[in-house]
Amino acid sequence: MVGIEKGNALVLERTTTQARNQEEEEPAAGDRRWKVSLLQHHRTCPCTQQLGPISYLLGTWKGQGEGGFPTINSFSYVEQLNFSHSGKPFIAYTQKTWKLNSGEPMHAESGFWRPKPDGSIEVVISQSTGLVEVQKGTYDAEEKVIKLQSELVGNASKVKEITRVFKLVDEELSYEVQMATNLTSLQPHLKASLKRI
Ligand code: HEM
Repeated sequence: MVGIEKGNALVLERTTTQARNQEEEEPAAGDRRWKVSLLQHHRTCPCTQQLGPISYLLGTWKGQGEGGFPTINSFSYVEQLNFSHSGKPFIAYTQKTWKLNSGEPMHAESGFWRPKPDGSIEVVISQSTGLVEVQKGTYDAEEKVIKLQSELVGNASKVKEITRVFKLVDEELSYEVQMATNLTSLQPHLKASLKRI
């Protein structure tokens, strides 16, 4: 058992070093070949195979979103998401948002996505507002849909429940976030669509 883990660790170290070298040799950020080789790495590396059917998330995504709720004015935002892995069977997640018009920073959050072989998934997220979430749900490997429902919302004065649905369609990652507060039942708060950069 220990031997197998050691073996995997060696393979992981070599492949991530190779990826880093490719990055250094190919400086152009938007270079198509670099993106393809990174995607190939994500698809073939043994470390990402453990992450199974949600390894398509790995990388950096950028796009625009719309927010609203019955009790607030609607707003538009720019968002960047990053999903990365260290070789362990979880994905590290970071999110940042900015006001669409002014570029002023808005909400940010980060966490860990932990897919299980049985098609269930557990996600923990801490938000810049201090709110923390434990989300549980399912992933559909063929449809590339991940559905999350809060099991715990902590350190929140208003929020009682949060749902998040992510979909990958035609290389576009979109999501919808709904929330329930002490005054309002479950309603949409955020909707965004992102492309890999
Ligand atoms: C799951 C993630 C989020 C939760 C749980 C959340 C929660 C909330 C809550 C409880 C409110 C107040 C609603 C009310 O007063 O009835 C709110 C308002 C607002 N949220 Fe979010 N939010 C989330 C993500 C975001 C993101 C990503 C952005 C920006 C891109 C954002 C921007 C805003 C804005 C602009 C308002 C209205 C102004 C304000 O009260 O500050 N929220 N949100």
